Amino acid sequence: MRVNVNDNENIIGTLVLPLWQGVESLDDNACTGLHRVLRSQIETVLIDGDFKAKSGSVMTLRGTEGGKAILVGLGKPEKADSNSVRNAGAGVISHRKRSDGTDLTVRFHDVDVALMSAFVEGMILRDYKYDHYKTKGADDEEEEGDLSVEITCEEDKVEALKAASELSAQVASGVFLARDLGNCPPNDLYPMAYAHKAIEWAKDLPNVNVNIITYDEAISLGMGGLVGVGMGSERKPCMVIFEMNPKEAGPSPCIVGKGITFDTGGISIKPSPNMDEMKYDMHGSATVFGVMQALAATGWQERVVAITCMAENMPSSNALRPGDVITTYSGKTVEVLNTDAEGRLVLSDGLCKAGEMNVSYIIDLATLTGAIVVALGHEATGMWTNDDQLRDSLKTASDACDELIWPMPMLPQFEKEMTDSKIADVRNLGAGRAGGSNTAAAFLKQFVPKRGEGEDAEDIPWAHLDIAGTAWGAKSNKLVPHGATGIHVRTLHKLITGQ
Ligand code: BES
Ligand code: MN
Ligand code: ZN
Repeated sequence: MRVNVNDNENIIGTLVLPLWQGVESLDDNACTGLHRVLRSQIETVLIDGDFKAKSGSVMTLRGTEGGKAILVGLGKPEKADSNSVRNAGAGVISHRKRSDGTDLTVRFHDVDVALMSAFVEGMILRDYKYDHYKTKGADDEEEEGDLSVEITCEEDKVEALKAASELSAQVASGVFLARDLGNCPPNDLYPMAYAHKAIEWAKDLPNVNVNIITYDEAISLGMGGLVGVGMGSERKPCMVIFEMNPKEAGPSPCIVGKGITFDTGGISIKPSPNMDEMKYDMHGSATVFGVMQALAATGWQERVVAITCMAENMPSSNALRPGDVITTYSGKTVEVLNTDAEGRLVLSDGLCKAGEMNVSYIIDLATLTGAIVVALGHEATGMWTNDDQLRDSLKTASDACDELIWPMPMLPQFEKEMTDSKIADVRNLGAGRAGGSNTAAAFLKQFVPKRGEGEDAEDIPWAHLDIAGTAWGAKSNKLVPHGATGIHVRTLHKLITGQ
């Protein structure tokens, strides 16, 4: 989508008119350049009450000689906020028909800059499709060009809205990358394919280093979690380490992503229905890559570290078995009771690696458990953390982005359950099905690195985000047509940069 902001009167293509609920006539200032036939048609539907401008409502007026208009409800001014208005903006794109054309002019009147910015952001984020695998000419329709959007508003708001729209577009480039990776079929996106994409991407960026720990290196380093999960596949595992602005001072933020490019469950194989969805099991790593892209696009100057743990979880004669005991990179041993609880195994090595990287805090993102989908549906990400400040700042950033994060309990009993293996330090499965997301988080906590030595050592601030419900299938997420959501790219960009 191309976006341009100006204060002129021209209306190019279809008019998009955001309206407050309760307003029954159009302000003369909002109508400059508007054809009188279209204006009178709009006023008729407002006076007749056919369009009440309720939040998120959309009505398209087509076939008048005065041109077309898409009316969008912003709801009551006292109730509107960035989140509701962002969704209203997205509604323009989801309701737009091909016949409305690719040129749109959004005419704002009497809307403050923060809300206009959110509206534009919603339009940008919803203008996404994943059609790389559709061969052209399959239907008779010609391919549609990119949308071209003119935003018009009061002169004194133009500069601020321009800057905000630009920022939204830059961050959205990271969201779209995360969605592309999440949607990519698992035959084309396997661990080393992700690594190669990261290397290619960094070639154009002098301030980003990407290092790969290959399968062989992971074996020599003793990364038993990553190796164990990935060894059953022909497509071997790897760890990808991104470092942005490496010369700047640390300690720095670190994000870690689960990157299971396909999760069959391994020897503890999953049932067939919906197994195709397990291509999203690398969405943690997709979000991590997306955040790096967003930071690169907005020109972030400070050091940021990111680590993704890439593996394909397959059953085979050399796959990990239930009953195996592995030694992780941390030196701790794990009794593997279920090979489908593989995300925590690869993350144990990723978290331990983060401890070597001079980091201020660690946030891991993982499609870790089906249980979090039972608990929170597709509406919120579950969060476990050892640091109240990190919890609060994550909550604040995610609320502002409307990417809800919900605090979950890290209870001592869950840790006890995961550390009472008869033969190893930690077990990878809870005693029963109860509290499955909590026991998974309690497992991860055993691998959070410490700062300092001996008695003075303290845990590095850490948060675990279980995105199994929010990374895909989120039908209520108005910013995504379907498939991978790109969840938390915006949240983490905001948390790290403050904007
Ligand atoms: N990738 C899955 C979790 C998942 C399930 C993500 C559904 C998205 C949708 C994870 O690796 C897994 O299989 N978890 C098991 C853990 C269990 C064996 C303790 C689960 O949730 O059933
Ligand atoms: Mn699994
Ligand atoms: Zn998994």
